[in-house]
Amino acid sequence: MDILVIGGGGREHAIIKMLKASPSVGRLYAAPGNGGIASEAECTGIAATDMEGIKRFVKETKVDFAAVIPDDPLALGMVDMLEEMGIPCFGPNRAAAIIEGSKAFSKRLMEKYDIPTAKCRIFDSYADALGYVESQKPPMVIKADGLALGKGVIIAFTEAEAKAALKSMMLDGKFGASGNTVVIEEFLTGPEVSVLALTDGNDVFLLPSSMDHKRALDGDLGKNTGGMGAIAPNPYFTDEMKKRCMDEIILPTIAAMKAEGRTFRGCLYFGLMLTADGPKVIEYNCRFGDPETQAVLPLVEADLASVMRLISLGKLAEADIRVKNAYSCCVVLASGGYPDAYEKGKTISIGEMEEDTTVFHAGTKLTDGGYITSGGRVIGVTAVRESLAEAVKAAYRGADRIHFEGMYRRSDIGKRALETRGES
Ligand code: AMP
Ligand code: GLY
Repeated sequence: MDILVIGGGGREHAIIKMLKASPSVGRLYAAPGNGGIASEAECTGIAATDMEGIKRFVKETKVDFAAVIPDDPLALGMVDMLEEMGIPCFGPNRAAAIIEGSKAFSKRLMEKYDIPTAKCRIFDSYADALGYVESQKPPMVIKADGLALGKGVIIAFTEAEAKAALKSMMLDGKFGASGNTVVIEEFLTGPEVSVLALTDGNDVFLLPSSMDHKRALDGDLGKNTGGMGAIAPNPYFTDEMKKRCMDEIILPTIAAMKAEGRTFRGCLYFGLMLTADGPKVIEYNCRFGDPETQAVLPLVEADLASVMRLISLGKLAEADIRVKNAYSCCVVLASGGYPDAYEKGKTISIGEMEEDTTVFHAGTKLTDGGYITSGGRVIGVTAVRESLAEAVKAAYRGADRIHFEGMYRRSDIGKRALETRGES
């Protein structure tokens, strides 16, 4: 089976490495791919959102299957386009991808089907939103409706911050059309869990739970980023909590999407907060998380190509997926300045890694002179070990062997999880 993977980040590198190990996989192509992916697959250089470019590529090159990974092409209907061309795909169609593409949609879905989430109001009018903010007690959470690279969420601790957020989204167009509608939510507290659920719209398989570290700096300070590191499994997601989330959130969501005529096939990401009132949905993503995937997939034993194919056929129940009894930690190395402006083109040196430590490339490019940086999150180093404490130490030993000018990373990935386990 010749496969085209759409995307080019660390998550896609982890997926492509696993696909490459699948006995059923022939040629592997990536659009666009990155410096590290270039060692495993043919990088086409076609942007993930270039619908015409991808259409042309699959007309010229035989591809038996496509895995559409990032949110943007999913929201644009890449799966619909490829399926119309007769190419089966892993990933939700446009109608189902809306679960991430519109927060207003997902909030209304949760309300209709009684799925626990933060209370909220949705506004299209700036004047109404402003009036509501003035009537509420902070803190409150203000979210742009559409996709905003994980940056369209502002936690306002004062009325002035809330008003500034509304102005930037609704009047100044900071997130473009994504900010025309805003969702204003109650502020929840509690540990967060990321759950990646493989589903064909009926059956579901939960991959190991994980914990992202979204803020740029140690101690969960600094700006929100795409994610600076992850550990798996998440110690807060006990068997009891897992059962509760399955019954109250995960199965009802999958059934709700089906009932709405938006059957979801692919990886549905549940961003959950375990509040004193029980687990609640903070966000849905219509795709694998990044960097969660780089922590989660190394704990999974399966023929990923076959699993993806079975999901596209609605036959997930036939898939053979096993989870290792081990722990993982992924530490992200970022360009100085990220998530704001940063420089590109810095030479990257990568030393030798221990066994069971893997380097996943994100924003890198392979040149004649070796790897150079080409993005904000540059590399993730994942270690799989028998205990979480060992996984964290090993991931940092690996990260210590990678250098580029301006590189920064958090030094406390896994710290909170270890404290929960009493292992720090
Ligand atoms: P999102 O992009 O929706 O995942 O939001 C980014 C981050 O903002 C989440 O991971 C949470 O840490 C935080 N957040 C989002 N919604 C809420 C909420 N209602 N209460 C507290 N924190 C939130
Ligand atoms: N790491 C969070 C996300 O992928 O959205």
